[in-house]
Amino acid sequence: MATDAVHPMHPLPRFPDGFLWGVSTSAHQIEGAADLREPSVWDVFEAEPGRIKDGSTAAVACDHYHRHREDVALLAGLGVDAYRFSVSWPRVRAAGGLDFYDRLVDELCAAGVRPVPTLFHWDLPVALQEKGGWLDRDTAAHFAEYVSAVADRLGDRVKKWITLNEPAEQTLFGYALGAHAPGRQLMFDALPVAHHQLLAHGLAVRALRAAGAADIGIANSHGPTWPASNAPADLEAAAFYDLLLNRLFAEPVLLGEYPDGMGDLMPGDVAADLKVIAEPLDWYGVNYYAPTKVGAPQGTEIEFGGLTLPAELPFSVQDIEDVPVTDFGWPVVPEGLTELLTGFRDRYGDRLPPVVITENGCSYEGVDDQDRIAYLDGHVRALHRAVEAGVDVRGYFVWSLLDNFEWAEGYARRFGLVHVDYATLARTPKSSYAWYRDVLRAQR
Ligand code: NOJ
Repeated sequence: MATDAVHPMHPLPRFPDGFLWGVSTSAHQIEGAADLREPSVWDVFEAEPGRIKDGSTAAVACDHYHRHREDVALLAGLGVDAYRFSVSWPRVRAAGGLDFYDRLVDELCAAGVRPVPTLFHWDLPVALQEKGGWLDRDTAAHFAEYVSAVADRLGDRVKKWITLNEPAEQTLFGYALGAHAPGRQLMFDALPVAHHQLLAHGLAVRALRAAGAADIGIANSHGPTWPASNAPADLEAAAFYDLLLNRLFAEPVLLGEYPDGMGDLMPGDVAADLKVIAEPLDWYGVNYYAPTKVGAPQGTEIEFGGLTLPAELPFSVQDIEDVPVTDFGWPVVPEGLTELLTGFRDRYGDRLPPVVITENGCSYEGVDDQDRIAYLDGHVRALHRAVEAGVDVRGYFVWSLLDNFEWAEGYARRFGLVHVDYATLARTPKSSYAWYRDVLRAQR
């Protein structure tokens, strides 16, 4: 165990009373026990040759399903206030129904850790994909029914809820570019996937409230978009990227409207749907990793963040120079978090509810992970600068508790505060685990 590492950095600034400190995971990335649930789109995708870089599957992953007690003990040892996990829709549809989550929630409560479930983190049941998945409007209604069942069963103990995780990435990687399940390459024909997920979000908020739940948010991924230069073509491309990745998912939820006429491209009775999508939220969740530098299209394929971006995209994504990068090659830019949050506050004013950082983290090798400590230290300080600048931030969740199945990257990318040996499934807390534990103690 690398729990006795020295933390040379200055004490972190104090966050407001009641600030929620946590860690995040998702079902498909950690649970395993694939035999005890229905198949999801990811099981199908993982079985297709070449889809997952290391040829792995998430059939076992961290085997959290069978080792949840050990993992809850790790959470208790860390001293987090809250644990963000996701409920697997394919597991809820299988024989055991919600039994696993019922037990998990009991254990979390007994350990003094608040359960914060995400209701959809990309593992759509195959049965729904066969009817079109998120291209099919009915998926939103099915989602709301499932959410009601979850709220009925867990709502006596769960007091904070997240509807969807990163609908932008689900749309872009899953349906536009095909790098994630279900592997569709529809480019701009994927836009209905965005709308149907946003509709599902709004219907889920209503279903949760009807079941008596309060304190509801969404986990949207956001980052500042940095134009490659002040040349008009670069500015235009960057604005378009910002529209697709940030505004398209924030504005229907926060303002009840699609940006820049994008609503005209969406299916169905968009005006009526927007009323559902804009159900007021108790808080707004932001997953932040890094800014993106965007310029005019270069007319060639681009290798970026493990992806091959097609030449026909109306923008190019470029390397940010002179900043460190993680082992995944992602730029480390803590001040991007301050910029993002103050920018959102300026853009959306009092339409922006209190913010919770629902994910922030990095992929590095090693158990004595001083680079992860530096990343997290920098981002927590950057978050505090946003608080000082007047942004109402109520919580921060590190991605992730455990090393886990990083989607198309397989097990090659390690985001955990706890190392997982995939041969033995042994958990070893990293130096960053001890660091975060000490940060949390100092905040109390
Ligand atoms: C976004 C996703 O929500 C999560 O599933 C993923 O593992 C992390 N970010 C890191 O890429």
